[in-house]
Amino acid sequence: MKKIEIDGNTRICGLIGNPVAHSMSPFIHNAAFEKLGLNYKYFCFKVENNNLRQAIMSMRAIDIKGMNVTVPYKQQVIPFLDELDEVAKKIGAVNTIVNNRKKLKGFNTDYIGLIKAIEEHTTIKGKKIVLLGAGGAARGIAFGIIEKKGSLIILNRTVAKAKELAKEFGCEYGGLELMDKEKADLLINSTSVGMHPKENETIAKKSQLKNFKIVLDAVYNPIETKLLKLARDAGCKTISGLNMLVYQGAASFELWTGKKPDTKLMKKIAIKKLKGE
Ligand code: ATR
Repeated sequence: MKKIEIDGNTRICGLIGNPVAHSMSPFIHNAAFEKLGLNYKYFCFKVENNNLRQAIMSMRAIDIKGMNVTVPYKQQVIPFLDELDEVAKKIGAVNTIVNNRKKLKGFNTDYIGLIKAIEEHTTIKGKKIVLLGAGGAARGIAFGIIEKKGSLIILNRTVAKAKELAKEFGCEYGGLELMDKEKADLLINSTSVGMHPKENETIAKKSQLKNFKIVLDAVYNPIETKLLKLARDAGCKTISGLNMLVYQGAASFELWTGKKPDTKLMKKIAIKKLKGE
């Protein structure tokens, strides 16, 4: 791999959010920039709520080429942008900003990451899919499934929130206990249950997981969550959230550079870092 030195032409990309310290994005993007010999660098910017507007304005002022946006700003960032991609508008959340000659346009690549991660294993069209959770992360996932003509059911601890989201996307909904009787092709966890440091938690029991052919956990730290372990034991095929992370990152990378990154390398680097190597 050719080492690219930071110089007067280096383009800057990054991540805005709070917290950002444990993000995998700098590792996967910087490795991919280097592999393609692109003079770009990716940084993490921890931004406090009252500074969000100034942080976005700085993209124009110091010509930052691109940003990823993470929790808790995916919705809050929208009023500070000049343009919004149609899909990002429908989802109501932005995870990628492109600075094109000081015009800031917002995109959502989270849903692209989801679709690619699933379609490596199965098509979505006509499949029955149960989505757990009805928060911010669930919105992009629900959009991706409806867009690809999957048959969606949203289950959430707070049923009123599942109802609201289901109304918007024209699908069915219910409480988490419905997992006892629903049978489906795919189960997706969009909640943060099972995420480091609470690795011993799981949103579904092994007895419930037998009803699903494939289980995808959007949580990628740890790489194999308790939910995925139980799913594997129950005979399901499993998909790690790491694939979603890499594919959403790759789609953002392409929007900024116009080039396709090496996703295998991105995944390899993320696994290494998550294992603490
Ligand atoms: P995000 O933007 O990461 O999706 P969020 O908007 O706060 O975060 O949504 C969190 C989701 O995880 C919600 O669906 C939440 O359920 P409630 O709507 O009932 O709060 C779900 N969630 C979080 N912790 C949970 C737990 N311990 N058990 C079940 N669901 C949980």
